[in-house]
Amino acid sequence: MTAPQIVLVGPMGVGKTTVGELLAERLGTGFRDTDADIVAAQGRSIADIFIEEGEPHFRELERQAVRAAVAEHTGVLALGGGAILDEGTRALLADHAVVYLSMDVEEAVKRTGLNAARPLLAVNPRRQWRELMEARRHLYTDAARVVVATDGRTPEEVTQAVLDAL
Ligand code: S3P
Repeated sequence: MTAPQIVLVGPMGVGKTTVGELLAERLGTGFRDTDADIVAAQGRSIADIFIEEGEPHFRELERQAVRAAVAEHTGVLALGGGAILDEGTRALLADHAVVYLSMDVEEAVKRTGLNAARPLLAVNPRRQWRELMEARRHLYTDAARVVVATDGRTPEEVTQAVLDAL
């Protein structure tokens, strides 16, 4: 198989990386994370890319990173929370086992912190998170084969729920 077995999507802070690593361990496969790929290739943080070159440039890098990862990686793949905004990226996911990890706003604030290092939640996290989710919820849902709610669950419980759901 020359494609990811599982692709994790969902908002920032939902635990895609943590759960992705656990899933890969359980399945005996590799784990890859497009945010980490971008940071490694650029040699700087995502926050710095946003500040220095803006979100549209980051989205272009992200589109390339997702395309490469989907083509090259077999195993579990986690995408950045905003990758789903890109139509080309969504088309790439069409044939894969996409899992949407969801959470409600209070869980999001608890997990990302009120002053998150994440550039899109830096000013008013609660309001910004609601706005992000209004724009993205349907994209996550439409792309997903299964939706797994993470509220109040440990990463191990979420991992088990994903395995049960697929
Ligand atoms: C973003 C999510 C982040 C990262 C960037 C933008 C978003 O990834 O790609 O800060 O637009 O939701 P995580 O979902 O891995 O935190």
